Amino acid sequence: MSEFETVIYKKRDNVACVTLNRPQVLNVYNIQMRDELYEVLSAIRDDPEVMVAIFRGAGEKAFCAGADLSEFLTAPSPTIARQVRWGRDIWGLFLSLPQPLIAALHGYVLGSGIEIALCCDIRIASEDAHFGLPEVGLGIIPAAGATQTLPRAVGRARALEMILTGRRISAEEAFNIGLVNRVVSKGELLSTVEGMARRIALLDPMAVRTAKQAVVRGLGLSLSEGLELEKTLASLLLQPMASGTRG
Ligand code: COA
Repeated sequence: MSEFETVIYKKRDNVACVTLNRPQVLNVYNIQMRDELYEVLSAIRDDPEVMVAIFRGAGEKAFCAGADLSEFLTAPSPTIARQVRWGRDIWGLFLSLPQPLIAALHGYVLGSGIEIALCCDIRIASEDAHFGLPEVGLGIIPAAGATQTLPRAVGRARALEMILTGRRISAEEAFNIGLVNRVVSKGELLSTVEGMARRIALLDPMAVRTAKQAVVRGLGLSLSEGLELEKTLASLLLQPMASGTRG
């Protein structure tokens, strides 16, 4: 998959790595990136060899500084620009991937950058990362999931503070509010994330996917329904490997 321009997709030892690749403009998300990411995410979803996927940003300065404002400015209005982006349900696809996804976050993580990170299951940040949601200040709202995914990650009050004030927060504050799992030095970011991915890739594929499914689906359920779901999934996993899906 080397035909893409805005993303780089690589796969090694059952670990996929997706790099947002517009470093000259801080990896901002444009329509071409949406289309290319859509293809990459579909390929990850359909590839039984991919056990876990990493998302990172190219260059020194940013994971992703949000939506490409030059596209917003050429569209008749921010609303139209937004509608163009809704042409494909990339965020639904992102959130439905069965494999664990790990975000490696450095530099600017703004707007859609946070939203991509929130589609991932585990977020590791380097010390230089800062996070912010500027959308409301631009007269729009985050619409790549953050109004829903952020409060689930950090709670209602902290999510609304970030969304309504647009205040940028440091990696340390992001860790303190639970937005990221861990903060490491910039030099350690990739090795930390790759080490975690490699450990997961050595586990039983069905156990890994089933554990993710239990947690993600359970979040939308009551505790008793969630426990029922866990029981069902646990027993499915124990069934003989006759389905041939375990390897
Ligand atoms: N859309 C399009 N281009 C963008 C961009 C965006 N959201 N953010 C940055 N860029 C471009 C800049 O225009 C610049 O391009 P140029 O070198 O051709 O002029 C390049 O990326 C580097 O950005 P620059 O502003 O020079 O870097 P900086 O370190 O001084 O500032 C930011 C970084 C992130 C603080 C600043 O670029 C910014 O505020 N960007 C807008 C972020 C935003 O509002 N995103 C959310 C949109 S919903």
